[in-house]
Amino acid sequence: LNIAILGAAGFIGTNLILALSKDEDNKIKAIDVSKDYFIDDVKKSAEIVESSFDENTCYKEFLREQDIVYHLVSTNNPTNSNVNIGKDIADNIMISIKILEACVECKVKKIVFISSGGTVYGNKVNCPINENDVTNPITTYGIQKLSIEKLLYLYNYLYDLDYSIIRLANPYGPYQRPNGRLGVVTTFVYKALKGEQLTVFGDGSVVRDYIFIDDAIRGIIRISSGNYENKIFNLGSGKGESVNRIIEILKEKVNPNLDVKYLDARSVDVPINVLDITRYKEIAGEFEMMSLEDGIVSTIEFFERKGIGCECK
Ligand SMILES: NC(=O)c1ccc[n+]([C@@H]2O[C@H](COP(=O)([O-])OP(=O)(O)OC[C@H]3O[C@@H](n4cnc5c(N)ncnc54)[C@H](O)[C@@H]3O)[C@@H](O)[C@H]2O)c1
Repeated sequence: LNIAILGAAGFIGTNLILALSKDEDNKIKAIDVSKDYFIDDVKKSAEIVESSFDENTCYKEFLREQDIVYHLVSTNNPTNSNVNIGKDIADNIMISIKILEACVECKVKKIVFISSGGTVYGNKVNCPINENDVTNPITTYGIQKLSIEKLLYLYNYLYDLDYSIIRLANPYGPYQRPNGRLGVVTTFVYKALKGEQLTVFGDGSVVRDYIFIDDAIRGIIRISSGNYENKIFNLGSGKGESVNRIIEILKEKVNPNLDVKYLDARSVDVPINVLDITRYKEIAGEFEMMSLEDGIVSTIEFFERKGIGCECK
């Protein structure tokens, strides 16, 4: 397959390319702002194209003759959304419309969009949350994801452009940047190994659906390679874990005397989010996902292989 990945140098793009390139029949075009953002293993496995994604980008240039296009571009994340509401919505929707138009013109067979299972539903939810439940995001990020989902529906209706939407929960693990803005598991593992303080917003009772990146990538590939009647899939572990549980595991695995600071809760954080993954299970069959504990151990091992050893034991 000819596969183009937009926003390819990030956490999900990197892991997706490493997985897709195992199949020699896949020819991957990886597009991101700078060549320097890509890790060496990805540079060896894909054709790298440097481009920003904005209103003036010529998307047709890299979408010609592509079978599948992965749209992984987002100019913001849940924690920094709600600050520049107009700009965030305008930028992300404009970029997505340009991508969709180019897909139609280039006769792309399918576009896969990574939406957000953690934000599109909002805070008045009954967990586990089903794909058909009410969506009332409390962040611009969630609203832009939902709007792009509706645009995919529209472009399919108007032009027959096939698509899959993956409402991804909270992936964590290798190649996630531990910068503290996104990905509490990876950030906490990194900080614990470095002997740095962990900051928790609220009392640590916030519950999320964490999915190890290998399980997430397997799901993304499975959903995008099938021809399913359902276009929207929740993808998570289907299990809820609190922030305090992550800390408990890190105390056990890394350092019993972790330095943890509790700050005020943030308005962008919904108290609980756990996805119902029945629809995904129906297409994926019976499988075991990695437990949070094993996933944390794998993430620790990854950082240690990369030379970030435990400086605190
Ligand atoms: N990581 C998560 O927790 C998570 C959860 C649900 C959904 N998603 C979505 O999945 C997608 C990928 O997430 P990720 O974690 O890999 O993000 P990431 O930030 O690690 O990577 C995104 C990549 O896109 C590139 N990019 C962003 N805006 C760009 C622009 N205007 N021009 C050119 N390049 C641009 C960045 O350089 C970066 O390399 C995003 O749409 C994100 O919203 C992520």
